[in-house]
Amino acid sequence: MKIQITVDGVQYQDDVEPRTLLVHYLREQVGKVGTVVGCDTSNCGACTVDLDGQSVKSCTLLAVQADGSSVTTIEGLEQDGELHPLQRSFSEQPGLQCGFCTPGMIMAARDLLKNNPNPSEDEIREGIEGNLCRCTGYHNIVKAIQAAANSEVTA
Ligand code: FES
Ligand code: FES
Repeated sequence: MKIQITVDGVQYQDDVEPRTLLVHYLREQVGKVGTVVGCDTSNCGACTVDLDGQSVKSCTLLAVQADGSSVTTIEGLEQDGELHPLQRSFSEQPGLQCGFCTPGMIMAARDLLKNNPNPSEDEIREGIEGNLCRCTGYHNIVKAIQAAANSEVTA
């Protein structure tokens, strides 16, 4: 099936199998390997992207369901060579160890801050509850999100 989709501001037209998951399309056909697959159970959130303004786990959608949509991945957050405030704060805190959960964690945090620019610690923990991290114990992730919230615009 042919789909038309905008990914990180660039328009693509591609043939996909009807069964192709959005995450596999993004990684294998568009080359957005910053979006990763951490499970096969829709649990980990590592594959989180923004689809038309809402964060979604891209392993839970078919590519054909994103036909006509606009997707932002972790690779689309940097603007003019400047890291997004969340990318910076995750790096500075640091809010990561192995980094595998980080792309999805940042995309989920971005969605959270869009809806709640000044979240409490509990609201942050609730906002990222769909994203699993096996390394950090979450403490520095929460601090990184707080730091980004306090820093500047996070859209
Ligand atoms: Fe999508 Fe784990 S890879 S939730
Ligand atoms: Fe390793 Fe989160 S930093 S899974």
